[in-house]
Amino acid sequence: MNPLPLIERLRALQLVLQETPTVRLEMEGVELHAKLEGQNPVGSIKDRPAVWVLKRAAERGDLTEGSTIVESSSGNFASALATYARLLGLKFIPVIDPNITPGYESFLQRTCEQVVKVTERDDMGGFLKTRLLKVRELCASIEGAFWPNQYGNPDVVEAHYWLTGEEIRRTFKTLDYVFIGVSTGGTIAGVSRRLKEAFPSVQVVAVDAQGSVIFGGPAGKRYIPGIGASVKPELVNHALIDDVVMIPEHETVQCCRELLQQHNLLVGGSSGSCFAAVKRYLPRFRASATPPTVLFLCADRGTAYLDTIFTPAWAARFS
Ligand SMILES: Cc1ncc(COP(=O)(O)O)c(C=O)c1O
Repeated sequence: MNPLPLIERLRALQLVLQETPTVRLEMEGVELHAKLEGQNPVGSIKDRPAVWVLKRAAERGDLTEGSTIVESSSGNFASALATYARLLGLKFIPVIDPNITPGYESFLQRTCEQVVKVTERDDMGGFLKTRLLKVRELCASIEGAFWPNQYGNPDVVEAHYWLTGEEIRRTFKTLDYVFIGVSTGGTIAGVSRRLKEAFPSVQVVAVDAQGSVIFGGPAGKRYIPGIGASVKPELVNHALIDDVVMIPEHETVQCCRELLQQHNLLVGGSSGSCFAAVKRYLPRFRASATPPTVLFLCADRGTAYLDTIFTPAWAARFS
């Protein structure tokens, strides 16, 4: 038997989420900052909604000692849930797809009793619909199943409002632009709401992958996990977005390498995409009377992408 009730163990877990660092990058004509969410305990921004959503569910009685957590994730949310579920003594079944990086897959195989991998692409060319169908199927067949539903759960927005967004607000006196990668839309929804309250003139730039349908573009094959989706997630409707920048994956690769070689940051694909979007904005930044204060989110570390984005033979598919 666990000594403390589940809700108390969850509240204690929230305390392990310390503030993540924000670092300054040298770039002419802009005061550029990167927030390193890869410094969260399990390695990504998804630590925040993972703990918050479980805590809220336990408070409502939807998550109990006998629950089995079932969730669809391309890597980071599943890794966070896997770690925290283990610490809480709960069972977790991640539903993944072939785009998952080998490092994440092997981590999940070692931390979860059961991992379900779908292999069929959906009608949009991605795997999201197939994964969600599998989640529903599993939930229907398991007694006490709990689906955090990172694509539509308002608790995810709340997590980013009170944790990620609030932290950014405390870090800056003023903020002119923030660049945020989008997949479920949870991060941009929570962060944009908190930042627009604190800095009413801040411009929120959503960063998505070419081939993703979130902002109405045509569906296409994508290889890099993190941002993008093959269906429009509900949570995006809660976000306050001023502009959208679509980044092709070859540019993501190039920018990840540039962040490593010129700025000593080993960060993942969505960070590279956000940096690519920042670079597209440079002429605008340089045209302003004073360099604007700009932040981009680095949602995870680059270590999980060493065999993909950072391996020239793998990245050759984009040339
Ligand atoms: C590395 C990375 N960046 C960005 C995102 C997008 O965050 P959100 O799902 O909150 O839109 C994700 C989501 O999984 C991610 O794993």
